Amino acid sequence: MHTVDAIHTRRSIRSYQPRPVDRSVIEEILWDAAQAPTPPASGDTPFTFVVIDGADRVALYGSQAFELARTAPQSGSANDWLDLDEFSVFFNAPVVIVICAEPDERGEAVQNCSRAGQNLMLSAEARGLGTCWVETALPWLREPQTGAELGIPDTLTPFAAFTLGHPQGMPAGKPRERPPIIWTP
Ligand SMILES: Cc1cc2nc3c(=O)[nH]c(=O)nc-3n(C[C@H](O)[C@H](O)[C@H](O)COP(=O)(O)O)c2cc1C
Repeated sequence: MHTVDAIHTRRSIRSYQPRPVDRSVIEEILWDAAQAPTPPASGDTPFTFVVIDGADRVALYGSQAFELARTAPQSGSANDWLDLDEFSVFFNAPVVIVICAEPDERGEAVQNCSRAGQNLMLSAEARGLGTCWVETALPWLREPQTGAELGIPDTLTPFAAFTLGHPQGMPAGKPRERPPIIWTP
């Protein structure tokens, strides 16, 4: 699929087929994600990917994340999703990918993880897979107990999380409006 087509056809997928995603495909997607531009001139990879593989595990973790998000809501827009009927943090996805980095005061870590995340979503789209960015999972992912269970080193903070899987249909989504553009005189 052409990059421009992937950009325009990608939609947040909240329903997945039960079949797993091949680990080789996941690795290719993460390799694509790691091509995102990074501030260090060295080109060093400033993030780490954590893969949660398996629909049953993802569902169990999703219910834990949901419980925490409901009982200890965070300030910010991520709470909106909790009000949706029959909301499920990770839906029925077979895979969740968490992008982690060492936190920094200048906010580069979150930007690095976000750039990699955008690549990840477009790569998945180009490969016929679906994703959804799931911010509602972050409070749970940042719990020390979760970090220990998932094997995330203390030095790393989860900044972005995505479901991944074979989509169960493609939602129409909301067509974007043309953005304001200022052509300099
Ligand atoms: C930073 C960020 C966090 C998001 N968190 C969630 C989330 O927790 N749950 C969810 O269902 N969708 C989440 N989304 C997906 C947005 O709802 C979605 O991108 C938006 O509605 C536009 O739809 P589209 O992705 O289909 O174009 C998030 C998107 C972004 C960029």
